[in-house]
Amino acid sequence: MRVLVVGGAGYIGSVVTRILTQQGVEAVVLDNLISGHRESVPQSCRFVQGDMGDAGELDRVFEDGIDAVMHFAAHSLVGESVENPAKYFDNNFAKSLVLFEAMRRHQVQTLIFSSTAAVYGETNTSPITEEHPLNPTNPYGESKLAVEKAMKWYSRAYAFRYASLRYFNAAGAFDAVGEDHSPETHLIPIALQVAAGQRDELTIFGDQYPTPDGTCIRDYVHVADLADAHVKALRYLCDGGDSVVFNLGNGTGHSVKEVVAATERVTGKKLPVRIGSVRSGDPAVLVASSEKITRSLSWTAQLSSLERMIGDAWNWKQKYPRGYSFRGTH
Ligand code: UFG
Repeated sequence: MRVLVVGGAGYIGSVVTRILTQQGVEAVVLDNLISGHRESVPQSCRFVQGDMGDAGELDRVFEDGIDAVMHFAAHSLVGESVENPAKYFDNNFAKSLVLFEAMRRHQVQTLIFSSTAAVYGETNTSPITEEHPLNPTNPYGESKLAVEKAMKWYSRAYAFRYASLRYFNAAGAFDAVGEDHSPETHLIPIALQVAAGQRDELTIFGDQYPTPDGTCIRDYVHVADLADAHVKALRYLCDGGDSVVFNLGNGTGHSVKEVVAATERVTGKKLPVRIGSVRSGDPAVLVASSEKITRSLSWTAQLSSLERMIGDAWNWKQKYPRGYSFRGTH
């Protein structure tokens, strides 16, 4: 089987690519390298530098014979999406339709899509099931929800089946792949930069949220657990399963302050912390119920304790203190 991994040079996509390859599935990676890293794609994979909005490039890739698509290509910064929604609707939504049209032209009917917990928006419900109302509080979540809606209607009208995986907060590292964004905005990599002495302090974005310690609660899930879910979802669709939406989290929330404390335990460093103002578009609590995927595909998060995720990310950081940048990918 040959799978096209769109956005396969990014953090989650490149871990999935590795795991597919290890399991004997041939992966072809298409990535424009705007935020991905060429080095994180395994040498054994065919790599095409290109954009999923380029229909001609897609035709060339599909002409080689593709059985299924995994779609990770997206901008994913909540704050940036509030500042610049056009960038998010164009890249995340409009270009996804170009990809889906290429799939239709080439009779490729199986799609695994990277969705997000951001489709739910602000909620008092915890944990969140897939049936929860969908009210994104930022354009990032809205752009992913627009893709989910398109997939729903495509699957009714055309020969097209999908699994939409709503990730909560991916964390950790796997093999030679770690989390390295430029600029970095995510909590755990920033906390580790402070621990490594590369940043003076960590700013907590608000401590007056309606949570026990006043800081936002998120559901962190190990990137290798996420990858495992993708492989299971692919097998499910290939075995004839119907289109489906699954949450992917570990069912336990951790506050920003708890993440800081765990980082201090793992690294043995005291982190200088400052309380700053809230970041726009941030919901107070996002914790997943992953019961549906556990029931349907026997998936559970195996590696998703805070200590394990931060420990793996810290080991990766010590091995690659400057992430991918020293290799000149930016
Ligand atoms: N945070 C800080 N200080 C920082 C960075 C983050 O306090 O320097 C806080 C954020 O306010 C948030 C939590 O740490 O409460 C986690 O923030 P991240 O930026 O690491 O992750 P997000 O929860 O914003 O984003 C993640 C995914 C998105 C997804 C979103 C759902 O990266 O793709 O969850 O809201 F959309």
